[in-house]
Amino acid sequence: MSTTIMIRAEHAAGERRVSATPDSVKRLVAAGATVLVASGAGAGALLTDAQYEAVGARIVAPADAAGNAPQADVHFHVRPLEPSEVSALPAGAVTLGTADPFTHPDSVAVARDRGVTMLALDLLPRISRAQSMDVLSSQSLVAGYRLVTMAADAFGRMFPMSMTAAGTLAPARVLVLGAGVAGLQAIATAKRLGGVVSANDVRAASADEVRSVGGTFIDLDLETADAAGGYAKALGEDRARRQQQLLAPHLAASDIVLTTAAVPGRAAPRLVTAQMLAGMRPGSVLVDLAAESGGNIEGSVAGERRAVEVAGGAITVIGARNIQSDLPVDASKLLAMNYANYLTPLLADGTLTLDFADELVAGCALTHEGAVVNPRIAELLEGASR
Ligand SMILES: NC(=O)c1ccc[n+]([C@@H]2O[C@H](COP(=O)([O-])OP(=O)(O)OC[C@H]3O[C@@H](n4cnc5c(N)ncnc54)[C@H](O)[C@@H]3O)[C@@H](O)[C@H]2O)c1
Repeated sequence: MSTTIMIRAEHAAGERRVSATPDSVKRLVAAGATVLVASGAGAGALLTDAQYEAVGARIVAPADAAGNAPQADVHFHVRPLEPSEVSALPAGAVTLGTADPFTHPDSVAVARDRGVTMLALDLLPRISRAQSMDVLSSQSLVAGYRLVTMAADAFGRMFPMSMTAAGTLAPARVLVLGAGVAGLQAIATAKRLGGVVSANDVRAASADEVRSVGGTFIDLDLETADAAGGYAKALGEDRARRQQQLLAPHLAASDIVLTTAAVPGRAAPRLVTAQMLAGMRPGSVLVDLAAESGGNIEGSVAGERRAVEVAGGAITVIGARNIQSDLPVDASKLLAMNYANYLTPLLADGTLTLDFADELVAGCALTHEGAVVNPRIAELLEGASR
């Protein structure tokens, strides 16, 4: 029987992205699935119900305030589902989207108790076969670009060096801390705007990666900190403090600081202390992509723009919050293809079959048939119930 996929409307305040576009729906329908789209689900990304209908989707009423959604086998969502949304799903339903289980363990517990299969695309193994499905990469790309435009907007100067008859304008000095997908995109974007860009990261490969997009790598001469899957591991306290000390003069020499450092499943590392902020030049702008997950910058608050006093004036510290949603059209376009690329190979003649021997299924699965199947999350939930 054909599997029914529901494209849910997002309810989180300020969320404008959607998990499917007419192009991705076309692919899912061609693979034999039946696609339902919540009326208005694409509006934030400038997609109309009529565009989805034209490619074979059926428009249905969105979930009500209690989370009750039209019946479907698979529910696509962008933001982690609330416990109330999961509890409105029938046993056997499958959810596919970003689950952020370390921050939203309650929703995982409800999925377990309801017999819902929760698939978290944010846990997708980083193997080459999965690159086209990688929502973290696609959204980090968008976020890295947006960080630069946010900083540019708050900066009282231009980025490029300009030699004019009226005088010379110095280029903006941009420092990027954390050079993963978002950081590399930020480096490339700031460079295209004309900034002089340098960056630091703790992974061994990052120096070459930074140079490949036109940045200067700042080598702090500290040992590297690589973990499995291309991620960084957390630094010990001494090593973290040493990194802050060594970064301080680089901050003092920068006009723009963009921080993107993250360690999966942990609070973001603190890279910039209040003392380091105090040593910066008036007019400098900092944007913290990690503000929602603990903050790379001391005192940054997600969704807020703060003035911090420094000698001779003030600097601006911006805490990013869901900034991918500021560019909903492109962010949704990439997300939608990630979802379709993940699900289409699992549809045999339009029917979803989950093979837990497939590392892409096993890697993403949080719950299945009443159990938490991800060992780390199972441990987290057990710890919480003890
Ligand atoms: N399928 C794949 O093979 C695949 C997919 C996506 C990304 N990647 C690679 O994985 C790497 C990390 O990707 P990400 O952007 O998702 O990482 P991430 O979002 O987990 O972290 C962002 C960056 O912060 C850095 N970081 C952590 N602690 C730090 C500290 N104390 N100081 C400075 N930097 C710190 C990390 O090394 C990382 O580069 C990248 O090199 C990327 O190219 C591989």
